Amino acid sequence: MIRIRRGAGRNAPVVLAAGVAALVVSGYASAAAGPPVAVEPVVHPEQWPAARSRGLVDPETEARIGALLRRMSLEEKVGQMIQADTTTIEPGDLRQFPLGSVLAGAGSGVHGDARAAPSAWLALAREFRAVSTEERPGHVPVPIIFGIDAVHGHNDVVGATLYPHNIGLGAAHDPELLQRIGRATAEEVAATGISWAFAPTLAAPQDRRWGRSYEGYSDDPALLGAYASAMVAGLQGAADLGGKLQAGRIAATAKHFLGDGGTAEGVDEGNVQLSERDLIAIHAQGYPAAIHAGVLTVMASYSSWNGWKMHANRALLTDVLKGRMGFDGFVVGDWNGHAQVPGCTKDRCAVAINAGVDMLMAPQDWKALLQNTVAQVRAGEIAEARIDDAVRRILRVKFRLGLFEPARPYEGRLDLIGSAEHRALAREAVRKSLVLLKNDGVLPIKASARVLVLGDADDIGLQCGGWTIGWQGTGNKNADFPAAESILAGLKAALRAGGGEVMRESNGPDVDLAAHQPDVAIVVFGETPYAEMHGDRKLPLYNERTPLTQMEGLRARGIPIVAVFLSGRPLWVNAELNRSNAFVAAWLPGTEGGGVADLLLGDAAGKARADFTATLSFPWPRAATLPPYAHGDGYKRPQFPRGYGLSYAKPGAVGILSEDLDGR
Ligand code: BGC
Repeated sequence: MIRIRRGAGRNAPVVLAAGVAALVVSGYASAAAGPPVAVEPVVHPEQWPAARSRGLVDPETEARIGALLRRMSLEEKVGQMIQADTTTIEPGDLRQFPLGSVLAGAGSGVHGDARAAPSAWLALAREFRAVSTEERPGHVPVPIIFGIDAVHGHNDVVGATLYPHNIGLGAAHDPELLQRIGRATAEEVAATGISWAFAPTLAAPQDRRWGRSYEGYSDDPALLGAYASAMVAGLQGAADLGGKLQAGRIAATAKHFLGDGGTAEGVDEGNVQLSERDLIAIHAQGYPAAIHAGVLTVMASYSSWNGWKMHANRALLTDVLKGRMGFDGFVVGDWNGHAQVPGCTKDRCAVAINAGVDMLMAPQDWKALLQNTVAQVRAGEIAEARIDDAVRRILRVKFRLGLFEPARPYEGRLDLIGSAEHRALAREAVRKSLVLLKNDGVLPIKASARVLVLGDADDIGLQCGGWTIGWQGTGNKNADFPAAESILAGLKAALRAGGGEVMRESNGPDVDLAAHQPDVAIVVFGETPYAEMHGDRKLPLYNERTPLTQMEGLRARGIPIVAVFLSGRPLWVNAELNRSNAFVAAWLPGTEGGGVADLLLGDAAGKARADFTATLSFPWPRAATLPPYAHGDGYKRPQFPRGYGLSYAKPGAVGILSEDLDGR
C-alpha cells in the first residue's frame, strides 16, 4: 500500500493565536468566543534530565563543515533541510533541486514497486548519491542521506530478516539481544546502500487503544533507557570511537519526540494533556540514554502537548532537546508533520524550522517548500543563522556516517539480506519474546505427538504485522517472504524431526479426526496487521477474531488446546484463556515462526528443548472496558501485571477468569 494520506482535515489543528499570553490559565486560554486557544506551554529546561551527545562533534570535522557552509548557496543550504519521498523525485531532479535527503516511505518501494529486489534498492540509493556528489559548476557536492523505516529489520525490503516488533523485544528484557538485532538490521540496510533507519521508537504507550502500541518496548518509562541505548548502539556502533561510524552501521532515529505514546484516549497523532512533570517522568525517559549512546537524529512527534503541536514547540525541541539534553545531531520532522502546525502548509512552515526542526519530511511538496523557505529566509522570517545551524547538524551526521568517503564495505553485500546468521538471531529473539500466560501442563508437547494445527498458523504477513513490505502490513502473502518460516512450517519441521505429525493444518486437508484423535490442538489467532491510525481502537477492546467456537468444539472432543495469540498489544482474551490449556502471547514475531515451535515442542519424550524467559513489559487487561494503564483499576489490578510470565522451570496456575466485559 502506498501512502497517500494525511489530509489537512484529519487532525484539525487547535487554533493558535499570537498575543494570547494575557489570557493564559494553566495552559489553555479561553477566548471570549470560539474554540479554546492553545498557548505555547511554558517549559523549565532545568527540570529535565541533562544529557550530552557523545562522539558527534570534533574540531576537525566542524572546520570542514564550516568551509562547506561558506561555499554553499542559500538554495543549497535550504535544500539540505528538505527530504522528499522517492516516489516523487528522480535522481536527476537533484541537479535542479539540491535536496539533502530522500526517504522511501512505507510502501514507496523502488519506483513504486514495493516488492522490488534488494539489487533494485541498491541501484536506487546509488543513483541518488551519484547525482548529489557530482562535480558541476556552481554546485557544492554533498552526498544525499537516504532514510527508511527499518523498525523491525529492513522491513520494506523483500527477503530481509524481520524481528519481533518492539513490544515483543520489550518482553525479552534483554538489551544485549536488542543490540545484536540493531547491528544485524544495520548490516542489511547498509547492504542496500541506505544509511539511516527511522528507529527506535522510544514511546511509552500509555493506552492500548493506540494502534502504534506495538512500536513501544514498554509502558514503563524505567525500562526505556536501557533499550534505547542498546538499539542505538546496535544500529550505529560504539559512540566513542571518534571520527566516523564503524563499517556497516547506519544512523538511528530516536522517535517521536515527545509524548507520542501519551495522547488522550490513545488517538494517533493526538493531544497529550499532562503536566510538565508527568511529561518528563513518563515520556522523556528514553531520550537521555539515546543521546548518550550518540544517536544521530531525533524525529519530532506529530502529537501535541497541551494543544501545542510538537513540530512548533521551540522550548522542547531547542531549549530542552538541543540545550538541556545536549543533542548535537539533527531533528527531522515527521511525514508532513510541519503541515499540522497552525498557519503552516505542506510547502511552507517557518514556524517548525524556527522551533528547531532541522530537516522537514516533505514527501511530495518538496519543490515548493524549497522555494518558499528560501524566500522566507530572504524575507527575514527565518534567520540565516538558524539555517546554518540546521545544515551544520545535518552535515555533521553525514560526515559521521562516512558519506563523504568512497569506501562503504557493506554496500552491495546483498548476501546479508535474510542471511542464515540473521535469521538465527531473529529466531532467538522469537524464543526470547514469547510470554507464557497459562500452562496446565499440556506444554511442552512431545515431538512425537499428533498435533492438530488450526487458525492463522501459516500466514507470515500476520506474524509480521504492520510496517512490513508496506505501511499497514496488509495484503502480504507468504510468497512475499522468500527467507522466512511460518509458525506452521516451524511446527511441521520439529514434529517431522521428532517422529510426530501435523494432522490437519489451517485450511489444510481434512483427516478423519474421529478415527485418529489428535493428542493436542494448537490454535493460532490474533489481530490482523495495522499501523498508524488504522490500528486505533475504542473501548470495549477485546480480540475481535476469536476462535471460541472452534475451541468449544475441540473441548467437546476432549482435545487439549494450546493458544498462540498474535497481537500488537495486550488484549482482553479471558474467554479464550478459559478455554485453553496453555496460552502464549506471541506478539508480532516476524519472519522466524520456527521460534514458536522451539518453545512449544519438546523432544520426542516431551522434555523441553528451550524454556520461556520473557515476561510482560505491559500490564495485561482484566476487563475489556478498562481505560488506559496509567489510570485507575486497569493499572492497579491487571489480569497479569508487568513482569508476569510462566516458564517450564516456574509453572503457575491460572484459575477460571471472569468473562464479563467490565471484569466483574
Ligand atoms: C511515522 C514515522 C515514520 C515516517 C516515515 C510517519 O508517518 O509517524 O514513524 O518514520 O512516517 O515513514
